[in-house]
Amino acid sequence: MRDTAFPLYSGILSTIGNTPLVPLKRLFSGISFELYAKLEMLNPSGSSKDRTALSLLREAWDAGRITAASTIVESSSGNLGIGIAQFCAYMGLRFICVVDSRTTPVNLKILEAYGVEISLVDVCDAPNGDLLRARIARVQRLCREIPDSFWPNQYANTANARAHHTTMREIYESLHGQVDYLFVATSTCGTLRGCAEFLRNAGASTKIIAVDAEGSVIFGGHPGRRLIPGHGASRVPELYQPGLESAHVKVSDLDCVTGCYQLLHREAIFAGGSSGGIVSAAARLKDEIPAGSTCVMILCDRGERYLDTIYSRQWVQESLGQGAVERPPAIISRASGNGVAAHESALPSKSKTGMLMLRGEEIIQLLEHREHEIIQSIRDAYITRESGGYSLPNCEYLRFPGNTVDRIIPKPAYLGGPFQAAGIKWVASFPGNLQVRLERASATLILNSVKTGFAEVMMEGSVISSYRTAASAALAADVLHAGKSTSTLGLIGCGPINFQVLRFLLYTRPEVRDILLYDSDPCRTSQFEACCRSLCDGRTVTRATRGQHVLEQASIVSIATNAVTPHIDNFAGRGNDLTLLHISLRDLTPQAIGQADNIVDDIDHVCSNDTSLDLAARSLGHRHFIRATLGEVLVGKQLPRSGVGPLVFSPFGLGILDIAIGCLVRDLAAAAHAGTAIEDFQPVPWAQRTY
Ligand SMILES: Cc1ncc(COP(=O)(O)O)c(C=O)c1O
Repeated sequence: MRDTAFPLYSGILSTIGNTPLVPLKRLFSGISFELYAKLEMLNPSGSSKDRTALSLLREAWDAGRITAASTIVESSSGNLGIGIAQFCAYMGLRFICVVDSRTTPVNLKILEAYGVEISLVDVCDAPNGDLLRARIARVQRLCREIPDSFWPNQYANTANARAHHTTMREIYESLHGQVDYLFVATSTCGTLRGCAEFLRNAGASTKIIAVDAEGSVIFGGHPGRRLIPGHGASRVPELYQPGLESAHVKVSDLDCVTGCYQLLHREAIFAGGSSGGIVSAAARLKDEIPAGSTCVMILCDRGERYLDTIYSRQWVQESLGQGAVERPPAIISRASGNGVAAHESALPSKSKTGMLMLRGEEIIQLLEHREHEIIQSIRDAYITRESGGYSLPNCEYLRFPGNTVDRIIPKPAYLGGPFQAAGIKWVASFPGNLQVRLERASATLILNSVKTGFAEVMMEGSVISSYRTAASAALAADVLHAGKSTSTLGLIGCGPINFQVLRFLLYTRPEVRDILLYDSDPCRTSQFEACCRSLCDGRTVTRATRGQHVLEQASIVSIATNAVTPHIDNFAGRGNDLTLLHISLRDLTPQAIGQADNIVDDIDHVCSNDTSLDLAARSLGHRHFIRATLGEVLVGKQLPRSGVGPLVFSPFGLGILDIAIGCLVRDLAAAAHAGTAIEDFQPVPWAQRTY
C-alpha cells in the first residue's frame, strides 16, 4: 500500500455521485405505489459508470497498482470507456480503449475528444469469433506489451460492485430506509451486486428486480441478437452471484424504445436504452406491486448517445419495424426558434405551395398520449402573450337575418415568440343540427404563413377546441392549486368538455383517488360515468345528487355546463382550499364571483357576452375583483393565490391557444407524414392564368 492518499478532493471527479432521486408521478396512471427514479445519467460524463470508473481506479491507486505514469487499458464500447476517459483526462493518465466495429460513431468521437487512444478490434482474433472475447484478448496482449499498464476488468473486479454501495446508500438514506422494490439493469452486474450487498448489510428486505436484455445469458438462455447497448452480456460476468436478484425480467429492444419514449413524453426524462427497458419491466410488474410500496428505478444514462438509434425514427422503423414505437419522435419545429423558417421547414414539401388537410380522427391520433406537449404548448402560448407577441381581435359573430339561434364565430389570432403563426378558428353553432342527429357545434382551424399570408394547413377544429380548453384548465389547476392536496376531483356538468378536462387533470394530478360527478340531467351523468370507467382505473367514481355536494367535498371542481344564467351563488362554506375551474363562464352569480380570488385568461374577453364576470363587472361598476391573469402568474408577476376565498379560474378560451395546438398538430403531422396534401393550392400568378 502506498502512503499517499488518492489525490481527489476537487474538480470534475468530485461531482460524481449524489445524483438526484426524483418522484415519477406521470409515468404510470392509476398506480397505488410511490415510484422514484435515481438519475444516474446526471453523473458528469453522463452515466452511472462514472462511479465504477472512479472506484476501479481509486482502489487501484490506493493499492499502489497505478501511478500517474501508468497506462490504463480496458475493453468498453460505451459508458465505462467514457467514465475512464474522464478519469484519465483529469488525472493525466494514458488510456487505451479497446472497442469493436459495433461501437457507435458518437461514442468514438466522445472518447477521442477526451484524448483516448482507440484500439479497434475489427477482425475476430479470438478462435470462436466472439467479439467480446476478441476484445479481451486484445486487452491482455496490450497489457503484456505495455510496461506499467493496468486492466481494471469491470466484469470481475469487485471494486465495480463497491462503487454501487454508495449508489444504494444514497437511495436508501433519501427514502429513510423505505425501499420495497429496486429495478436495476444488468450487464457486468456491478450495480446489481453493489446494491444487493448494501441492502443485505443494512438488513433491508428490498426486492431487487434485475432487468436484462433478451439475447443476454446472465440469467440463462442462449445468446441472441441485441441492438441496444448497455444492459445484457454474452457471457455470465464473474461479478454475478446467484440470488443477488429477487426476480429478473428480460426486455426486448422494442421494450427499451417504448420505455424511453414513455419517459420522455410523460416525465420529460431523456434517457438511454436500459432506462427504457426498466420502465417496460416496471410496467409489466406494476399490477403485482402492493399498494403503498416504494419503488426505485436506477436510470443509468442519458439519451444523447442514442440519437442515431432509439431517437431516430428511421432507425426504429428499419430495425424494429414500421410503427414499432408507441409514438414516433416528433419534429417540433418550434424548438429551432427561428420563426417562419422553422415552421415552414416542418411542413411536407408538397404543402409549400399547397394545403395540408387534417381530419379530426387524424388529429386525435397525432395527439394521443401527448398530454405533456399539449399542456406545454398552452403554457408557451400564455407566456408568449405576456411578452406582447400576439394579436387577438375580438370579432363579431356572423348571424343570419331572422334567425337568432344559428351563428358562426370567427376567432382570428397571431402568436409570435417560438410559434410565429397566424390563423383563424371558425366555430359554427347550429342547435337545429341535434334534431337531425348531427353535432351542434363544428369548427375549422386554418393556419397561415406569417411570411406570405398564404393559408397552409386546414384542420378540423373541434378536437383542437376541446383539447386546448382541457389543457388550459389542467395547467391552471397545476399552477394555481400547486402544493395543495387533490384526493377528490369534482365535475359539475357531464359533457364532452368536462370529459377532456378530467382526462387532462388525471394526467397532471395522478394522485386523485375519488371523482364526484353532477349533472342536472341524470342520463348524462350515467353516460359520463360509463365513459370514464376506463379513464378512472382504480379510482372511485360517485354521483352527487346536488352540485353543492360537489363543492363541499372536492378540492378541484371543474364546471362545464350549458347554463345560460348563473346558478351557483355560494361556495358551500369552502375557503382557500377550493379551486374552481369555471370553464362554461356563466354558472356563478356576481355575488359568488365577488367572494372569490379571481384569475382569468384575458380580462377584456372574459368581461363580455354576459358571462358571470361581465355581470359582476356591470353590477359593481369595476373589474377590480379580477386579481390577475394566468399568464401573469406563469411569468411570476402575480402570486398563484391571494389566500382569500376559493380560487376561481375563468377562461374565455383564447384564439392563441388554438393556434398553439394547431402548430403542434401541424408539426406532428409533418413528422408523421399524416394528412392529405393538396398541391398547388396557392394563388396562380395572374400573368400565368389561362382566361
Ligand atoms: C446504460 C447502461 N445500463 C445498464 C448497465 C448495467 O450496469 P452493470 O454493468 O453495473 O450491470 C450498463 C453497463 O454498462 C449501462 O451502460
